Amino acid sequence: MRMVDLIEKKRDGHALTTEEINFIIEGYTKGDIPDYQMSALAMAIFFRGMTEEETAALTMAMVHSGETIDLSKIEGIKVDKHSTGGVGDTTTLVLGPLVASVGVPVAKMSGRGLGHTGGTIDKLESVPGFHVEISNDEFIELVNKNKLAVIGQTGDLTPADKKLYALRDVTATVNSIPLIASSIMSKKIAAGADAIVLDVKTGAGAFMKELDDAKALAKAMVDIGNRVGRKTMAIISDMSQPLGYAVGNALEVKEAIDTLKGEGPKDLQELCLVLGSHMVYLAEKASSLEEARQMLEKAMKDGSALETFKKFLAAQGGDASVVDDPSKLPQAKYVIELEAKEDGYVSEIVADAVGTAAMWLGAGRATKESTIDLAVGLVLRKKVGDAVKKGESLVTIYSNSEQIDHVKQKLYENIKISSTPVQAPTLIYDKIS
Ligand code: URA
Ligand code: CA
Repeated sequence: MRMVDLIEKKRDGHALTTEEINFIIEGYTKGDIPDYQMSALAMAIFFRGMTEEETAALTMAMVHSGETIDLSKIEGIKVDKHSTGGVGDTTTLVLGPLVASVGVPVAKMSGRGLGHTGGTIDKLESVPGFHVEISNDEFIELVNKNKLAVIGQTGDLTPADKKLYALRDVTATVNSIPLIASSIMSKKIAAGADAIVLDVKTGAGAFMKELDDAKALAKAMVDIGNRVGRKTMAIISDMSQPLGYAVGNALEVKEAIDTLKGEGPKDLQELCLVLGSHMVYLAEKASSLEEARQMLEKAMKDGSALETFKKFLAAQGGDASVVDDPSKLPQAKYVIELEAKEDGYVSEIVADAVGTAAMWLGAGRATKESTIDLAVGLVLRKKVGDAVKKGESLVTIYSNSEQIDHVKQKLYENIKISSTPVQAPTLIYDKIS
C-alpha cells in the first residue's frame, strides 16, 4: 500500500477501507508517513468527508494507536460524559457526585488544558488538600468504594489523535465533522467508557456555533459509538450565554455545591438532570429516563448527592468541610459589582467574551505556561430575558487586582440590554440516540 494512492483515492471522493485506514494511522503514529502526506489527506477528508464506516474505522484505529485504560475491575457499566466545551460549564462537577449517589460508577480521567477557566482538575484543586495523584489501583478501588474518583491523565492514550489534532490545527482542517467526531470518540473509548453521554453545545460560546453543525456532529458521534459497541446518546444544548452563573474555578465549585443541594441556577440544574438521567439510564440503573430523573431529584433533595461529593473529596485528600462552609475555598481580594447603565431587559450575554473576561482576571490559562488563580472569576447576576434596573448589578467580579477597567469594558460590550422584553433562550435543542 502506498500513502500517495490513498490520498488520491480520497481526493477523488472514494471511501477508504478499514485496512487502508489502519495502514495510514499506524504509519503516521510510527513516523513512517510524514506530516505533508497526512496534511494532504486531512484536506481531502475536509472536502470529501467520510462515510459512517470510515469514521468508525478511523476512531478505532486511533484508539489502538496507544494505550487503553482497562476499567473491567470496576463493577457495573461505566458511563462517561463528554461536553464539547463551553463557558462556565459546571456540569462535570455536579454530574460526578450526582449520578454516583444513585450507584452509577464514575471513573473520571481529566485534564487541565487551556481555556477561559481551568479544567475539572483545576476546579477541584480549589478544595484545600484535594489531589489527583493516585495510582491506577487506588483509582479503581476508590470507584468501587465511593462510585466516584478522578485521576489525572496517565499513559499514552491515542497518540495518533494528539499528532493529527496538532497537524489539523495548523493546516486549517480542524473543522471537519468526521475528524472532530473520531477525535473526541477515540479519547472516550481509550479511557475505558462502556457507554457515553455527549453534551454538544451550540451558540456563541461553542465550538459549533450553528445548530445544524452541532446536530451533524452529535449524529456522527452517536453513530460511531453505536457502531463500535458503546451505547451513546447526545444532547444539543445552548451555549449562547454562559451556563449557570459562575465562571471561575472556586466559584464553580461553590455553584456545584449549590446545585447538588437542588439550589443551583435553573439552567445548570436542568441540564445536569437531563444529562444525568441519560447516564443513569445507559448504566441500567433505571428502566426509563423518567425513573432516572426521579432518582436524581431525590438524591438532591435528601442530601445523598452532597454526601457522595464529601466522601469523594475526603478520599482524595480534600477538606470536605468546604461543602458546608464554602468560605474555606480560595477567596479573591476584591469583589466588584458591574452596574447596569440603563433600565431594560438583558438581550445577550456573549458567552465566549465573558469567558475571555474571566481569563483576563486569571481564571484560565492563555498558554500552557500560564498560572491559574483559583479564586477569581465572574458571577452573573442576570441572565438573558431578565429585567434589569439602572444601577443594579449585572455581574459580580472577583479579582485579585484593582486594575480591571479592561474587564469591565469587555463585559459592558458583551452584555446587551434592550428596551423591550426578551425571551430566555432554549436550553435543550435536541436529543439524539
Ligand atoms: N476537540 C477534540 O478533541 N478534537 C477535535 O478534533 C475538535 C475538538
Ligand atoms: Ca457555571
